[in-house]
Amino acid sequence: MDRIRIVGGNELNGSIPISGAKNAALPLMIASLLTDGTLTLDNVPHLADVEQLTRILGNHGVDYSVNGRREAQDSAYARTVNFTAKNIVDTTAPYELVSRMRASFWVIGPLVARMGEARVSLPGGCAIGTRPVNLFIDGLRALGAEIDIEQGYVNARAPRGLVGNRYVFPKVSVGATHVLMMAATLARGQTVLENAAREPEVVNLAECLNAMGARVSGAGTPTIVVDGVATLSGATHHVIPDRIETGTYAMAVAMTGGDVILEGARAELLEAALEAVEQAGAEVTRLNSGIRVRRNGAGIRPVDITTEPFPGFPTDLQAQFMGLMTRAGGRSRITETIFENRFMHVQELARLGAKITLSGQTAIVDGVERLRGAPVMATDLRASVSLVIAGLAAEGETVVNRIYHLDRGFERLEEKLSGCGAVVERLSE
Ligand code: UD1
Repeated sequence: MDRIRIVGGNELNGSIPISGAKNAALPLMIASLLTDGTLTLDNVPHLADVEQLTRILGNHGVDYSVNGRREAQDSAYARTVNFTAKNIVDTTAPYELVSRMRASFWVIGPLVARMGEARVSLPGGCAIGTRPVNLFIDGLRALGAEIDIEQGYVNARAPRGLVGNRYVFPKVSVGATHVLMMAATLARGQTVLENAAREPEVVNLAECLNAMGARVSGAGTPTIVVDGVATLSGATHHVIPDRIETGTYAMAVAMTGGDVILEGARAELLEAALEAVEQAGAEVTRLNSGIRVRRNGAGIRPVDITTEPFPGFPTDLQAQFMGLMTRAGGRSRITETIFENRFMHVQELARLGAKITLSGQTAIVDGVERLRGAPVMATDLRASVSLVIAGLAAEGETVVNRIYHLDRGFERLEEKLSGCGAVVERLSE
């Protein structure tokens, strides 16, 4: 299993190209199930989760080609990928495939909308809380699907098609918003989704659906209105830059000091996180072509944060910010409100010398003057990169084990960091 070795202590200086967003690419790829036309996505990141979803879609009959070729090119940064679901050959998403990535459950929406049936295994994914699927089921039922759960599978049927309705999410959910928005595009009549997720990835999906001929309005606000159409067509669509990758590298620079341009990043996708980085003592400059992050001389200041749905501070940057706060000059409080059990990085950060105590959903971080390198274990996608951030500022060598978690969501991490002067290398076995 691959590991990452880091020797801490260097500043980061230079530029880092920001990849297309994983969390935008995944639902966009799934939207290809809604049409027999070709959906062309550009700026698709080359990540394990994208490869896994490509396999899952292939199982349903989706044909794909990368930059005009059948197979993926290992070295391409931003890839253009064509997905064509001309014939859906199978409406079952089996356990073996879905259990490895939670987002693959989302195929349930397009499949039941277009084919009138779907049989999808209950999902797996990062071990960060119970992550139920009740909102998907309630929402699809509101659109007229009959749903039962047996032997670990959700069976959804709508033989005469879905019917538009009003559905109020009792809790904000990114995935359930994606799924109901996709399903509603092919429902008869109007669907109104209230208390919808406002994340930029939802907006990106809505724009793509509209390019395919859907009639979606209000994405980015809590109320999304979808007027159903009979069929959708192919389209070409651009994946937005990854705001979580952007925030991660901004926090890495705030941690090590230095001066880095995050090329292609868009500040409006992560203002809450950038403000926290600024409060922590880094200088953030919003450029047309990206974001410049600098910290020279001044120490890291403690900042309290609470995770919230967009536009609040994202839960996917909570671990990284905690990594930064381990070296702040004082005490900070980090409160997680989206997921229970999303503090598994605390124990690993402690192995590097961090002082963190947990009190319910809040981590109290007492900044220390120095961290010391140690072997640590990646426990989930975002937690693992917080260990990299801490390792960059720790004295000596840090080895992060189980980095397959990192490969799910960070494209060429070691290359991007070492290009800016960090000592980071992949140890392959
Ligand atoms: C997406 C992101 C993930 C991010 C999360 C929150 C992708 C591929 N993943 O995950 O990186 O951390 O948004 O920003 O885009 N919930 C229910 N019932 C449901 C569905 C969700 O109770 O049926 C709960 C979850 O347990 C959680 C909360 O709602 O407590 C928010 O989860 P949700 O927004 O659905 O997360 P994902 O879409 O899975």
